[in-house]
Amino acid sequence: MSAIFKIVLVILTLDKTNGQDISNVKQLYTDVFANHQKEVFPKVDQNTPLKISMTMYLMTITKFDEVDETIVILGGLGCSWNDAGISWDPTSYENKIYYTFLPSENIWTPPITLINAVDVLGPVQGDTKTNVYIFYDGNVTWPLGGVMSAKCTTDISKFPYDSQTFMTMLTLGRINGQTLSNVKQLYADVFANHQKEVLPKVDEKTPLEISVGFSLFTISKFDEVDETIVILGGIICSWNDAGITWDPTSYGNKVYIILTNDKIWTPPITLANAVDVLGPVQGLTETTAIIFYDGNVSLPLGGVMSAKCTTDISKFPYDSQTCKFEFLVWGYSAREIVLNLASDPFSENFFIPNSNWKFTSYNIQTFSWNGYSTLEFSMTIKRESFKNHNKIAAEPINDEKPSIDCSPPVSVTWKDVSHGFDVLSMIVSYVVICVGIAVFFIIVR
Ligand SMILES: *[C@@H]1O[C@H](CO)[C@@H](O)[C@H](O)[C@H]1NC(C)=O
Ligand SMILES: *[C@@H]1O[C@H](CO)[C@@H](O)[C@H](O)[C@H]1NC(C)=O
Repeated sequence: MSAIFKIVLVILTLDKTNGQDISNVKQLYTDVFANHQKEVFPKVDQNTPLKISMTMYLMTITKFDEVDETIVILGGLGCSWNDAGISWDPTSYENKIYYTFLPSENIWTPPITLINAVDVLGPVQGDTKTNVYIFYDGNVTWPLGGVMSAKCTTDISKFPYDSQTFMTMLTLGRINGQTLSNVKQLYADVFANHQKEVLPKVDEKTPLEISVGFSLFTISKFDEVDETIVILGGIICSWNDAGITWDPTSYGNKVYIILTNDKIWTPPITLANAVDVLGPVQGLTETTAIIFYDGNVSLPLGGVMSAKCTTDISKFPYDSQTCKFEFLVWGYSAREIVLNLASDPFSENFFIPNSNWKFTSYNIQTFSWNGYSTLEFSMTIKRESFKNHNKIAAEPINDEKPSIDCSPPVSVTWKDVSHGFDVLSMIVSYVVICVGIAVFFIIVR
């Protein structure tokens, strides 16, 4: 196997150096990418969402855990889109450069997130650096991937992207007429020297009001013995940043901009009754904020949240448990920051059920607690597992394995497998042909 890999690498290297010498490529980099604003969302105008085409490759199923209802796969994802901010004329470089590849941090890339993740809520590729292929017309192809752990009680065929949230963010607003240069100018004028360390209040007397809403994605685990509940959840925060404002008419009617959260001040929202670490709920994960011309900011945060939850098992196995999550903006007392409930404070649109516990009800409120403005989300879950466990215990002699309701992408048939072999043999023959051609050229030279 490694032999094939090495051969392929040789061919790629040949292909790359074939004709284009390095000074050409450097010139291209200087011309196109050295001053490229990668923070800017690369759409041509606001009317059309950016289209990203995605292909999923399943490489291997690393682990399937029936008890935790977790599946771990190694997967790859090919993403392609067009970056309106990139283009060059291939003929102006000696020997014509049609494409180049660069580390992905040189350009804007979509933060594709596995929404039913078990552990962290963050971009699927994590911190791994991958290369992007960039064509002269701005077409970009980005292979990314990694280990993906997902909750597995539901249909994996929709696995694994939250394209809906992403699309909602992309389609926000209905304004036309702006060009990418408007957006770049706006970024340069308003954000390039923005002081993101400063709490963006208008004056010292009034606290900053942050409106908050909670999204429940999944109940990962409930542990009676440790009295711990683990969920994957998100918090949508909105506030007004008094340090940000622009006149949309000066920027082709651009009323909002989408930037990564490290460009502006963001509240360090903390789960106060956490089990393990006391830190911002989103960890170090980067998210994107939508910022409006009047300074309104909307920011989704999220992650794995483990909370202490006092357990009452007196009614076992027909018990219900109520667990509370207390969030506050750590380091900012109620004189500085006040949390208010959003008009629609709870969402279960992306909720994936847990087969042991049924989510039955919730309550969400804000109040003042120890001088801190606090958001409390409390949820009640009801035990569902008893019936299933009983059934398995009652029929132990039955030879059949319990059916697993978790067939990754769809059920795999022999047809798929033989198709897989066909593709594999096609790839192998392709590689053999390429090697033949490469060897031929090397010999001829
Ligand atoms: C870029 O993408 C568009 C749309 O998919 C396609 O028509 C065009 O041929 C692509 N350009 C290159 C250089 O591949
Ligand atoms: C900003 O927020 C305020 C208060 O919620 C609201 O009245 C205003 O319409 C918002 N501005 C925009 C551009 O959405």
